Amino acid sequence: MRVIRTIEQLREALEYLRGGGHTPIGFVPTMGYLHEGHASLLRRAAEQSGTVVMSIFVNPLQFGPNEDFAAYPRDEARDLALAEREGADIVFMPSVEEMYPQAIRTTVSVSVLTDRLCGASRPGHFEGVATVVSKLFGIVQPDYAYFGLKDAQQVAVLRRMVSDLNMNVKIVACPIVRENDGLALSSRNVYLSEEERRQALVLSRSLREVRAALEEGKVRTVNEAKAMLQSVISSSPLAVIDYAEILTFPALEPLEGNSRLLEADGELIIALAVKFGRTRLIDNNVFTAKEVHALV
Ligand code: PAJ
Repeated sequence: MRVIRTIEQLREALEYLRGGGHTPIGFVPTMGYLHEGHASLLRRAAEQSGTVVMSIFVNPLQFGPNEDFAAYPRDEARDLALAEREGADIVFMPSVEEMYPQAIRTTVSVSVLTDRLCGASRPGHFEGVATVVSKLFGIVQPDYAYFGLKDAQQVAVLRRMVSDLNMNVKIVACPIVRENDGLALSSRNVYLSEEERRQALVLSRSLREVRAALEEGKVRTVNEAKAMLQSVISSSPLAVIDYAEILTFPALEPLEGNSRLLEADGELIIALAVKFGRTRLIDNNVFTAKEVHALV
């Protein structure tokens, strides 16, 4: 595995690989502090692509002024060991100066899809994500890029960006990896106190309970499902709900409150963002009415 810190060296290394015949390049962009969720993306990339490139870059552009850019957890040695173990061929770890040598005047902004969910509470966040991912796509020029459905809105936004701008890369969405007790893995879970960690289980539990209630016919409409999410999450005294929404996926269009969920066409997303102290956690479930019917 090679660790590369400059754009020029990365381009050279990739050019050399491409010169040896076409080997599909799979790309896994991350901000580091790697866990089993990131590892699952690397494994998927290794299955599908000849060369696996992972980037580790805490992107200042996607953090708001009151967010945790400076405090974001970092552990280079541990990250490199995990990347090597899980099949990365190249790890690209640029500095902020390497990625942003001058004030940026060109950004990528995806409209409408970013007005909702995390876009509403984190203004500018998805513009920062779309911009850095476009830059990374331009640098790596991957055939495939792997993203986790843990950040389902990010997947929706990046799919739309690739489609609208005709970028020559296929976005591969991978399932959410969870702890045994249901908590979705996140680099930010380290911020949780023991009690917050315990109560944070309410996110995955509320998703499971709403899905079960839909399957049993106890909950039918969008409003009923949202009310159930609110009531399950509020049973944790430390939980402060940022949003608990049900939208179409990946267009992220709202649904009529009285409409029946199991009559909807296509995919839906139940999406949550809940704060525990200063830590904001997200979780979601993407499903189709058809698949719920199949379980009933
Ligand atoms: P980061 O939060 O490090 O996540 C990198 C990738 O890992 C994302 O695609 C994310 O969805 C995926 N991931 C995180 N937790 C996961 C889990 N529990 N299960 C499955 N996949 C998981 O997302 C970012 O970084 C940044 O916004 C980035 C795309 C790198 C742009 O800066």
